[in-house]
This record gives sequence, C-alpha cells and structure tokens, in this order.
Amino acid sequence: MTVTLTGAGAALPERILSNHDFAHLDTSDEWIVQRTGIRERRRLAEDASLAELAALACERALSDAGVTPQDIGHVVVATSTADRISPGMAVEIATLLGIDRPAAFDLSAGCSGFVYALDHAIATIESGRAEHVLVCGAEALSRITDHTDRNTAVLLGDGAGAVVVSKAPGSLRPTFALGSDGTRIELLYVGQDRLMRMRGREIFESAVDAMADHTELVLKQSGLSPDDLDLFIAHQANARIVQAVARRLGVLGDRVFLNVDKVANTSSASIPLALAHAREQQLLSPGAVLGLAAFGAGLSWGAGIITWRAPAAGRGMTGPAADRGGR
Ligand code: ACO
Repeated sequence: MTVTLTGAGAALPERILSNHDFAHLDTSDEWIVQRTGIRERRRLAEDASLAELAALACERALSDAGVTPQDIGHVVVATSTADRISPGMAVEIATLLGIDRPAAFDLSAGCSGFVYALDHAIATIESGRAEHVLVCGAEALSRITDHTDRNTAVLLGDGAGAVVVSKAPGSLRPTFALGSDGTRIELLYVGQDRLMRMRGREIFESAVDAMADHTELVLKQSGLSPDDLDLFIAHQANARIVQAVARRLGVLGDRVFLNVDKVANTSSASIPLALAHAREQQLLSPGAVLGLAAFGAGLSWGAGIITWRAPAAGRGMTGPAADRGGR
C-alpha cells in the first residue's frame, strides 16, 4: 500500500479581470503577458466568503475521488487570507461539507502552503491515523494586494483548489522535501498594513533555484529521473519561472503544466487548482507520476513526487512514463 492523490477539484470566483483592467497602473497587456504569461485572473467579491468558495472546491474533489464526507477525519487548509484571523477556515469548510467533527486546521506557509499541507496529510496516512485526508489551498489575495502598485497588483488572483489524499494500492511511495530561510523575510512579506511587498527579481531567481534543486532531490530520493515524470506542476507564479525550472530539470513540452495565463498567482491555491485543471483536461491517468514544486514567503519551499491514483489493475505503471520504460 502507498498514498496517492485520488480526487481534485477547483472553484474560482465568477469575476474575471483581464490585463486591460490594469491600464490605469501604467502597465500593458503586452508587458504582463511577456514578463509573466498572465492574461487574466479571478477576483472574489469583497463581501464574499472564501470558506464557501473553498468548500465548493473540496466538494468537487470528494466527488472526483468517490469519497464521502463520512470518510474524512482530517481537513487541512493552506491559506494566508482566511475570512477571520481565528478560527481558521478548515472548521467552517468541514461543517459546510457535513464532515462530522474532524481534526481541522489552517496552515500558513506562503505560496508553499499547499505542499506543506500535502506532506502533513501523507504523514498522517502513513502513520495509520487516517485513510483519507482532505487538503485544500484557498486564497483571496485581493485582500492583501496594494491595488495601486503595478509591481504586485497584476500578478495576483483569487481561487481555491482541493485534493483528496488516500491510502491506496501501489508501490511508489510519495517523497517530499521542504525547507525555509528566515534570513530573507524582507524579499516577500505581508506586514501589519496587510499588504504584500516583494522584490520580484530576487524572488524570481531564488524560486527557480529552490524548486529545481528540491525537485532533483526528491527525484533522486525516489530513485527516479526527470524522464519518469508524467506531469510537472510547479507553483504558478510566473510562466517564465515555471519554464526555467522545467528547463533546468530537462522536463519539456506538454509534461509541464501551465494555467497561470487563466488564474495568475493564487499562492497556496495554485498547485491544487493546477491539479484540478489538469484533471479536467484529462492529463492525469491512473498511476501517473507527478512532480510538484512550490516557493514563496518565508522564504519557504517544497517539492514532492506523488502518483495520481493507483496504477490500473495488473499493470505496474501506466501513462507516458511507463511507455518510456518507467523506473
Ligand atoms: N507593468 C510595467 N512595468 C512593470 C510592471 C508592470 N506591471 N511591474 C514592474 N514593472 C517594471 C518595474 O517598475 C521595473 O522598472 P525599472 O526597471 O524602470 O525600475 C521593471 O519593470 C522590472 O523589470 P525586471 O526586473 O526585468 O522584471 P522581471 O522580468 O523580473 O519581471 C516580475 C518582474 C514579473 C515581478 C518577476 O520578477 C516575477 O514574477 N517575480 C516573482 C514574483 C512573484 O510571483 N512573487 C509572489 C510570490 S513568490 C512566488 O510566488 C514565487
């Protein structure tokens, strides 16, 4: 037995902002597309509940996994923009879903939050304390955006994504590596004014190094090579960052997933949203080997290898990696 992802779901606010909606900030569609790959992002209404949006993503993930709320004993929500300072959103989301008195908590690790939450979920299942854990990443970054600052305002979006993590048959054990460096907090932070400040270029370079190095590390620890990855999903901050990491790894073409053009940087919602969108595009086949990588405030980072569901019965592995000879 091992631990796999068994379901994914996404939920986005209805309101779409195009790059043209930022023309008043002395920027342009051309600049934003060229430097970031972003074409549009979603915006949650000021009086809307992020927990309700997140619950919708979770409901879709549960349905995709064929898991009922009664099967869930643990709910972990990665976020830096919860509806309230306390309690976190996990308890409210669990109640909205009808999950009866689960262990439920929020986790804050900037844009790396989802990977940290996923690592926790895997450890909880591996230790025998749960069979299914619901992991959600949800952000309303518009709540911490300086809407007058073109350096950050054009980059950020709102949304929620969720996955179900389950005990399942299979032989590839998930491998995750996490890290942080508190000596560089000033590169990216949200202060007492509740507005995000960052030094973009330095973040860019550190993000590429950390995500590439840690993906190489978890591949090595798993006994895999970059060729074994069926899909590489890195935190969708900027298409150029994702492509630079993928180039360093030698993972190219359609094995690199991008949806930053549609959703922009949604921090801890970014990877589960990407997983759900990859699922909608039928890019996840049973047994597919996924590489995940994230980087963000802290500084913090993480990378991991995990499979999408169990391989089809009677086969060691399916998908492109199997065609290339697998492990
Ligand atoms: N429109 C026009 N010009 C802009 C804009 C804009 N929206 N934003 C910044 N600029 C200008 C700056 O004022 C600066 O001008 P100057 O040179 O006259 O001072 C110039 O563009 C900056 O140029 P570069 O440093 O060459 O820009 P770069 O190619 O690094 O792109 C960007 C900037 C998009 C911020 C990039 O560095 C980036 O994406 N960094 C990561 C940021 C990020 O995603 N942080 C959030 C979370 S961390 C994470 O998720 C990884």
